[in-house]
Amino acid sequence: MIKLITDYSGIDDLDVMVYQSRVSKIHNNLIGEDTYSENLGWFDYPNTISEKEIEKIETYSEEIVKNSDVLIVIGTGGSYIGSRSVIEALKYNFYYQIYEDSKIPKIYFLGYNLSDSYVEDLLKVLENKEVSVNVISKSGSTIETVLAYTVIEEFMKKKYGDSYKDRVYITTSMTSGPLRELAIREGIKSLDIPNKIGGRYSVLTPVGLLAMAVSGINIRKVLKGASEQISLLESAELTENPAYLYAVMRNILYKNGKQIELLVTYEPKLRFFSEWWQQLFAESEGKDGKGLFPTYAFFSTDLHSLGQIIQDGKRNLFETVLMINESDSKVRIENIDEVFGRYSSLEGKNIGDINKMVFESTIAAHSENGIPNIILEVKRLDEERIGALIYFFLRAVSMSGILLGVNPFNQPGVEIYKRKLRERFK
Ligand code: PA5
Repeated sequence: MIKLITDYSGIDDLDVMVYQSRVSKIHNNLIGEDTYSENLGWFDYPNTISEKEIEKIETYSEEIVKNSDVLIVIGTGGSYIGSRSVIEALKYNFYYQIYEDSKIPKIYFLGYNLSDSYVEDLLKVLENKEVSVNVISKSGSTIETVLAYTVIEEFMKKKYGDSYKDRVYITTSMTSGPLRELAIREGIKSLDIPNKIGGRYSVLTPVGLLAMAVSGINIRKVLKGASEQISLLESAELTENPAYLYAVMRNILYKNGKQIELLVTYEPKLRFFSEWWQQLFAESEGKDGKGLFPTYAFFSTDLHSLGQIIQDGKRNLFETVLMINESDSKVRIENIDEVFGRYSSLEGKNIGDINKMVFESTIAAHSENGIPNIILEVKRLDEERIGALIYFFLRAVSMSGILLGVNPFNQPGVEIYKRKLRERFK
């Protein structure tokens, strides 16, 4: 499903193979749940999520679709980027315009910033709309999420009176935290975040699945794609496990002095997927004074901006190109006016074919100039493949973080601003 092409990485096979024994050891540790047993709930989750849980998500989703024009998803970090990334990857490009009159609720995300105007604007959008809310927080206490929920709860109470509770869905820790308490006290419907799955590893759990289902995505297919990926990544051998190979290549490039990894895509629909990837790698690896700085770009858009610094600037980055090979739409270029004569040979081609040419030319230009390129090729964007891609990166980042010598499952750095903030409102 996911092909890793190493030809433009500038990395020698022998340098990769040196890692094999370390990788095998880490792999055995991961599957044996030896060192990180408290954080590996995601490892097999697509295979072990119960039919009951999936049906519950589907039932809630049907309810929301039936009752609502709008679903507000409240959460931040790993509690919102995942579902947004999948929904936008599979649905976006003018989605709301195209589905203007359809029964699929529009999904708006809230609680990932504290911008006054953002909240105010959303409240305007909600006027005269039937609204449901999915508030997501594993801890149940993240400030952005709690405050956004408080504002929306007020709005819902005014609009629906006591029956607002029928339109609220809480996704939180299965055992503890303020949101769990609220769900129990108020009898609000809830979904469980398994204890051993951290925020950024949770997109394939109820955290991400409810909003995906509401948007019309078949969550069973997403889980199936992830499950298939689990079996494709069973081996510890670098010749057979592309997620581990990707992790090793990143580590080699890091050791060779690269400081930045740029995830490149050619699809605007992958904007939030790139953000999800960024969050996953930044929070998992950036600690103890170590880690590649993960960032992203869209080509050809950014070839007209970042393209300059990539080609000609400081040699401190490498690119990971996520290339989607086929698309459903086949927009043909016809009748190029003679004033644009230099492009006449492109007549009859699809826009997608030309996107592919840009990809090939850019790889050639950048690698010629010594910029390593790792290519991840996926045939098309669909539910199964997005599930597979997510799982691929979860496995890659866990191997990569451990190879780097950090704990990929915590995020101590993020706590510091929270502490400083708490000191201000004591
Ligand atoms: O990956 C993580 O653990 C974080 O990004 C969290 O998802 C984020 O901080 C939100 O936490 P919570 O779900 O507890 O509100």
